[in-house]
Amino acid sequence: MQIAVISGSPKGEMSVTLQYVRFLEEAFPEHTFSVVHAGRDIRSIERQGEAWKRLLATVAESDGVLWATPVYVMLVPAQLKRFIELVGERNAGDAFSGKYAACLTTSIHYFDHTAHAYLHGICDDLAMRYVGFCSAHMEDLRKEAFQEQLVLFFSDFLEAIAERRPVQREFPPLPASPAPYARTTPPAVVETRGKRVVILHDAEPGSGLAAMVGGLAACYGDSVRVAHIRDAAMKGACLGCCRCAFENTCVYDDGFLAFWEEYVAPADILVMAGTVRDRFLSAAWKQFFDRSFASGHIPAFKRKQVAYLVDGPLGHLATLREVLTGLAVMEGANLAGIVTGEPGGEIDAALHALAERSVRLSERGYVAPATFPAVAGHKVFRDEIWGGMRAIFKADDRYYRQHGLYDFPTRDYQQRIITRATSLAMAIPSVRRDVVKKMPSHMIRPLEKAIESSRVLAERRSEQ
Ligand SMILES: Cc1cc2nc3c(=O)[nH]c(=O)nc-3n(C[C@H](O)[C@H](O)[C@H](O)COP(=O)(O)O)c2cc1C
Repeated sequence: MQIAVISGSPKGEMSVTLQYVRFLEEAFPEHTFSVVHAGRDIRSIERQGEAWKRLLATVAESDGVLWATPVYVMLVPAQLKRFIELVGERNAGDAFSGKYAACLTTSIHYFDHTAHAYLHGICDDLAMRYVGFCSAHMEDLRKEAFQEQLVLFFSDFLEAIAERRPVQREFPPLPASPAPYARTTPPAVVETRGKRVVILHDAEPGSGLAAMVGGLAACYGDSVRVAHIRDAAMKGACLGCCRCAFENTCVYDDGFLAFWEEYVAPADILVMAGTVRDRFLSAAWKQFFDRSFASGHIPAFKRKQVAYLVDGPLGHLATLREVLTGLAVMEGANLAGIVTGEPGGEIDAALHALAERSVRLSERGYVAPATFPAVAGHKVFRDEIWGGMRAIFKADDRYYRQHGLYDFPTRDYQQRIITRATSLAMAIPSVRRDVVKKMPSHMIRPLEKAIESSRVLAERRSEQ
């Protein structure tokens, strides 16, 4: 069979993910693999008609398409995102329609599921027959047990093609774009109380997003700063070279860092506004997110209020919502809210409420306690950095040490003694019987002190 591999890595032949494809090529010599370097060659693909035609022919002539890509900032690299946008812009869906598809990623398993869900949705939109995915840790290929699983994954993909296996669509089509948002009520200005408010956007003039940005900016009054991410003057997308790892210094010498320092770093309230392109924000926004990788795995939005304006069908895009939420909370921010331009959303009122709430929460210093993505994400980073990456990611290592982020439970010696003692006590049948009987009260006893202190705090508040 003829397999078209769409490689998303900007590193081309040096891609870690591509080595997994090379492994498959050796394991299945009876099949032919043609690699389209969508990530590496995105510029020529954009500019040269010949490159585009060749690439489409490779896909059209194939029996199946394997998307082989690294996970970059919870999704695919900006370059692959742009490639997918081009397929839509140039009405090139016919080459993909009806093809069997599968997805192979490498990553450190941090939000790999959102990258897969995105690609699955794209395949559904292109009327491809999505068979499944293989999510590899970037070092898995060394392990024999993984190699066996990779072979099984690919065998299943080939069998699906050979059998013409029926495949159901998982992600419903997105609704048609409604009329763009236009303000209907005059804005009421919110007192920003010295908080620095920044709105970053990628709006086209006259678009619904431009109206939303203008509407929100009007709510914040004169103290807001509004900037188009185009003004970051990025010379290109992240190259995945990881040369930033040592000192958080990017190889690009362009306007990104200065833009970041001017707008993102000082903001107390940071609003990011974008229009949905296919199933995510634009490739330009994705490029912005990918380039922020140069700051390493440290919480770049610590204690900020972060909010989003999304012009598009966010209600149908759970993955986009998950990524936007994940981006905010993983960077240490509080998610103050997301306003969408979807019809029926009382957008004027929602923009005003967002402005008011973000200022109030910023004043109070509220950051919502972490839920699973941020708790799990921290542990993945902590273990990966300490477990090996710190040899190269020196800046991360320094930050993790200085900020107590290497918070392994093995280092909590007091807790270890308590756990050991409790465990030994549980070996005594009478103690164990007593604990089992009174389990609920044992669980809440340590919390009683906190409730008492709350009473004291309430009394103090009423005295003030
Ligand atoms: C800019 C950038 C962003 C990344 N973001 C993620 C991520 O969100 N989740 C993850 O698990 N790994 C992430 N990684 C790690 C890569 O997915 C991993 O190193 C991958 O194996 C690189 O594959 P490649 O050599 O094919 O490009 C990121 C790496 C880079 C350079």
